[in-house]
Amino acid sequence: MNETVYKLLVPYKGILAADSTGGIKKRFEAVGLTFTPELDVKYKEMIFTTPSLEQFISGVILNDTNIRQRVFNNNGIVMGIKVDEGLEPFNNTEEQITKGFDSLSKRLDEYKLLGAEFTKWRAVIKISDIFPTDIFLDETLSKMAKYAKLVQSKDMIPIVEPEVLLDGNHTTTRCAEITEKTLKKLFELLLLEGVDLTKVILKTNMVLPGKDSNVIAMPLEVAGATLRALNASVPKEVPGIVFLSGGQSADDATNNLNEIVKTKGDSPWDISFSFERALQVEVMKEWAGKDLPAQAGENIPRAHEAFLERLTKVSKARMGEL
Ligand code: G3H
Repeated sequence: MNETVYKLLVPYKGILAADSTGGIKKRFEAVGLTFTPELDVKYKEMIFTTPSLEQFISGVILNDTNIRQRVFNNNGIVMGIKVDEGLEPFNNTEEQITKGFDSLSKRLDEYKLLGAEFTKWRAVIKISDIFPTDIFLDETLSKMAKYAKLVQSKDMIPIVEPEVLLDGNHTTTRCAEITEKTLKKLFELLLLEGVDLTKVILKTNMVLPGKDSNVIAMPLEVAGATLRALNASVPKEVPGIVFLSGGQSADDATNNLNEIVKTKGDSPWDISFSFERALQVEVMKEWAGKDLPAQAGENIPRAHEAFLERLTKVSKARMGEL
């Protein structure tokens, strides 16, 4: 197995996604803080210096700003970088395509010099009665396949992240159908592009009912639907699948991951996590103070404690041992 892939998929550990640029502003607001670049650096330094973080985290995904600020300095953890530049409307519809390919080659060279060993590119797939359209899926996933090929040509490991959104009132069955269709198309295009599937990590959503459907799916049901979709679409050569949390609560994402790993049977890939929100919601809340006034920074020991508590649970869930 490729060395970076091996390090990222080591047992009991997973990937800490810390690359959000828009969502993090909302999360600062939710705990009574106004996002500023200075406060962002303080927050990131706080989470990255959590004692024994490397016991639970194999890799961290940074964003373009943070990698250049050199906020991350932990030799025991592999450094990765989100390389897409967000979304833009596709054909004047509500579908949004990922941007950032034009400047990618140059940026990859810079990120590599800054120490990145792996990269992430996210596509967003919205579910409704009419979405996703075939033309959209084809376009957005073709870009993703080209990205993966380019990253491999620079000797880094690409994470491909086609995220089927939780937003909407769709059923679990519809989410399963779209997730399976998306992944089948993605792997068809990756192969067409000549991507080496043994040097790719898939980051994907769990199969869930839409968040406005008012349906609560139990972990066993989520695990069954998710594994059926993955088994039908992800080639066995792919070494690892890491889940995003996608707006689930920290407990739901953790319990669902645990059940997926527990029931994965002889599915060929390793399964782990690459959560952002589900890992950070509690630590952020403690850091900013449970109640106002929120003087970020005064609560660092409590924040580290909350973070370690969640990391311990997710690490066990990643082994199906929760
Ligand atoms: O691109 C999405 C993030 O890397 C994962 O974030 O766990 O909050 O969905 P999430």
